[in-house]
Amino acid sequence: MKKKSKDKKPAQKKWILLLAAALFFICNSSVMWAKVQEHFFENSINDTLSATVMSSQAVITDSATAKTDEKAVEKTDEGADAIGDDASDEKAFRSDDWRLVLVNKQHPIPDDYELKLGSIKTSRGSMKCDRRIIADLEKMIEDARKDGINLVICSPYRPSTRQKYLFNKKVKVYVKSGNSYMDSYYLSAQAVNIPGSSEHEIGLALDIVSDRYSGLNEGFADTDAGKWLAKHCMEYGFVLRYPKGKESITGIEYEPWHFRYVGKEAAEYMSSENICLEEFKEQIRE
Ligand code: DAL
Ligand code: ZN
Repeated sequence: MKKKSKDKKPAQKKWILLLAAALFFICNSSVMWAKVQEHFFENSINDTLSATVMSSQAVITDSATAKTDEKAVEKTDEGADAIGDDASDEKAFRSDDWRLVLVNKQHPIPDDYELKLGSIKTSRGSMKCDRRIIADLEKMIEDARKDGINLVICSPYRPSTRQKYLFNKKVKVYVKSGNSYMDSYYLSAQAVNIPGSSEHEIGLALDIVSDRYSGLNEGFADTDAGKWLAKHCMEYGFVLRYPKGKESITGIEYEPWHFRYVGKEAAEYMSSENICLEEFKEQIRE
């Protein structure tokens, strides 16, 4: 029996050693496996994270690029607007340009306004207006004549005494017709500007009719001269200052004979946009 038990011991030891070795291997392999997993998993997470970060950066970058692009588009649009459609383009029009001075009931002639008068020889003798507009005015009269139209200037520059006289005369007519003084004043101001607020008083406006039609009434618009002026005046820097349909803005009734010098570019622009001087000045207001 003793021998038997002695024989079994080495075999048991062998099994124990094998078991221990197996355990050691298993443990080590699981640790190693864990490490391998951890390594790859981390890398995978890192890759995922960096991919996410990169893609979100890409999104941010894209959105930033998009925003930049949007701004570029906006800027391009603004630029296009400024150059193409907007009268406020400083290169084109300046609000303080002498040719664009706004004179009306709300904007009376400034006390320090400096008149620059000159004389123009007409079929009715010598007349005064702003000397800076004479060349264009003479060219317009000459070109109209070539087209068989004899334009006649019937009211050029007016001193304030003349404007006062005309205004008071109008008021008297209304009063005589039975209107109150207040109503007469109000009605007159729609046809003759209140003294101190007429463009005639600064020499930039002229009433123009023809040798065939001298009435200052709406009928002038239907004459050859009226039509010629309405069609061509802008080519010489003039605008029909009180157009039909703009009475509520200008405060003056339709006057197809009253022409105001604003310069060729502004005249062409106002004509193509169908706007009066009040609207134009609003567009170029700085
Ligand atoms: N007839 C124009 C409105 C003026 O008096 O100025
Ligand atoms: Zn006039």
